[in-house]
Amino acid sequence: MRILFIGDIVGHPGRLIVKEKLEVLRAELVPEVTLANVENAAGGFGITPPLVEELLDWGIAVLTSGNHIWDKKEILPYLREQAGGRLLRPANYPPGTPGQGAYVGKTTGGTAYAVINLQGRVFMPAIDCPFRKADALLAELPPEVTVRIVDMHAEATSEKQALAWYLDGRVTAVLGTHTHVPTADEAILPGGTAYITDIGMTGPYDSIIGMQREAVVRKFIDQLPARFEVAKADVRLAAVLVEADPATGRALSIRRIAQGR
Ligand SMILES: [Fe+2]
Repeated sequence: MRILFIGDIVGHPGRLIVKEKLEVLRAELVPEVTLANVENAAGGFGITPPLVEELLDWGIAVLTSGNHIWDKKEILPYLREQAGGRLLRPANYPPGTPGQGAYVGKTTGGTAYAVINLQGRVFMPAIDCPFRKADALLAELPPEVTVRIVDMHAEATSEKQALAWYLDGRVTAVLGTHTHVPTADEAILPGGTAYITDIGMTGPYDSIIGMQREAVVRKFIDQLPARFEVAKADVRLAAVLVEADPATGRALSIRRIAQGR
């Protein structure tokens, strides 16, 4: 079974390149399920209900997120009320937070799979422990759901690597998002878990992690509040293709995918 996971879709340029490339990419790679992190899909900050629906319409089965999921206020009622539960927020926010951090479903081919969204705590909001939350969510999963994909939305490489080693052999993949810079460390750990520190951003690379450079540089210097706008140039799609054995849930391979214009 092949799983295509698209890294953080940033703003209109990110959405546009997904729209342009996804069909061809799917014809070439033949994934049974396509997933994406979308927390920056609306103007670089958060996501709106119409954009969720659009991305689902393009055939992305489950949308993961992170700390920016709260940026557009209209997403809160959507997270609470959505049918199907295909937009996730990180699972380790405190009890009572709107939305769900895990999804269990079946591909059109009938293979059961789970997606778990977690968020790190290093240089990030001090939410609940992602390691303990992963334990709790995995304990609840039916054993027949062998294919288990974890989006670890985190800043620190060490925390992402630690989670991958902690879950090695218990999940199919631990895929990092949030830093927007693709890393070249994709690997299959000894227990059969595929890992990459960061899939990378789907958006404009002539930027500072997707934003127009000038305002970001100025803010580092003057420390004043600034308005960041999504950059425009050098738009690329970043993803990984994970191949897994559905009988065991073990990953067989992980491959980085990069597509420019
Ligand atoms: Fe993030």
